[in-house]
Amino acid sequence: MSDQTKYEGPKRVFSGIQPSGDMHLGNYLGAIKKFVDLQEDNECLYCIVDLHAITVWQDPKLLPEQTRHIAAAYLASGVDPSKAIVYNQSAVRAHTELAWYFNCVARVGWLNRMTQFKDKAGKNSEKMSVGLYDYPVLQAADILAFKATHVPVGEDQKQHLELSRDIAAKFNHDFNVPHFFPSPEPMIKGPGARVMSLRDGTAKMSKSDPSDNSRINLTDDADKIAKKIRKAKTDAGVIPESLKELEERPEVANLVSIYAALSGMTDEQVLTQYSGQGFGVFKPALADLTVEKMSPITDLMNRYLSDPEELNRILAKAADKAAEIADPIVSDVRKIIGFCGA
Ligand code: AMP
Ligand code: TRP
Repeated sequence: MSDQTKYEGPKRVFSGIQPSGDMHLGNYLGAIKKFVDLQEDNECLYCIVDLHAITVWQDPKLLPEQTRHIAAAYLASGVDPSKAIVYNQSAVRAHTELAWYFNCVARVGWLNRMTQFKDKAGKNSEKMSVGLYDYPVLQAADILAFKATHVPVGEDQKQHLELSRDIAAKFNHDFNVPHFFPSPEPMIKGPGARVMSLRDGTAKMSKSDPSDNSRINLTDDADKIAKKIRKAKTDAGVIPESLKELEERPEVANLVSIYAALSGMTDEQVLTQYSGQGFGVFKPALADLTVEKMSPITDLMNRYLSDPEELNRILAKAADKAAEIADPIVSDVRKIIGFCGA
């Protein structure tokens, strides 16, 4: 494969979230919080990936509302549309076009290894849409249509990012354009990269978990947040002194990590503050902290959602800006492939 270290284009950040289901604390800590930090010093595109959402059935009447829901979550969390480009994927044609070219670069064997497809499809893979199988190729097109170099995501996206890098490298190699596409780097590390379910410390917090008590939604009010944390699964022990002692207690480790991510402390600092305390003390403290950090976001989100036309305008304006970046890149791809008239 070609040497990817010599890419000389600008640093550019791209990430996306699907408009399917409620946003939760895992999305906030694993993704959106990082988006806000990155927008200060980088050119950033934050996409609402509605084309990915339709890989499983979405009600056409609800999809626009769900799309605005994610837009409102981005903005309420501090993503600033004058600094970052916030738009929905289907409004920019470059995504679907480049995805087709990448379908002809990616190998079936590569997709067969994708664990997210296996998790989502379970025993029903024959009945899933072709789009769900092809999902990671579209994701590679999202990133590379902008020659994005950095991709802030939660840990669950690691494998998809590796595939994007493989596709970029194979395209550059096959067409002998050694540094055309960058090798996009995942930005995963940091607190909140993997927030687990409140009901099961071995499963990630997820939109698709049937139990609403497993997650804190960005739309939950203070009472609901406190109730969910009170009900969170723990054990009869107390908060231990060392991280080592948390290894066999995934639910407790998760609550400690959430506390750390929300407060800006390290896990160790949280243990130092609470070691020896029972959950009768720790859970109310965590509930207060979560409410303090999340309630302003929920309130602001509701304010944005009360003006859908304004959200539509913000998205449409940003889609034009996104197309201005992606269209020339995809046009170069057409020339590189050798289409007549390109
Ligand atoms: P999704 O909700 O699957 O569209 O994910 C949107 C973003 O949130 C991606 O960057 C995910 O990696 C991230 N994410 C989703 N669930 C979690 C979680 N439980 N912990 C940390 N990050 C997450
Ligand atoms: N697959 C990502 C998720 O489920 C969403 C996504 C789509 C994405 N395209 C992307 C993330 C491009 C980062 C970059 O979370």
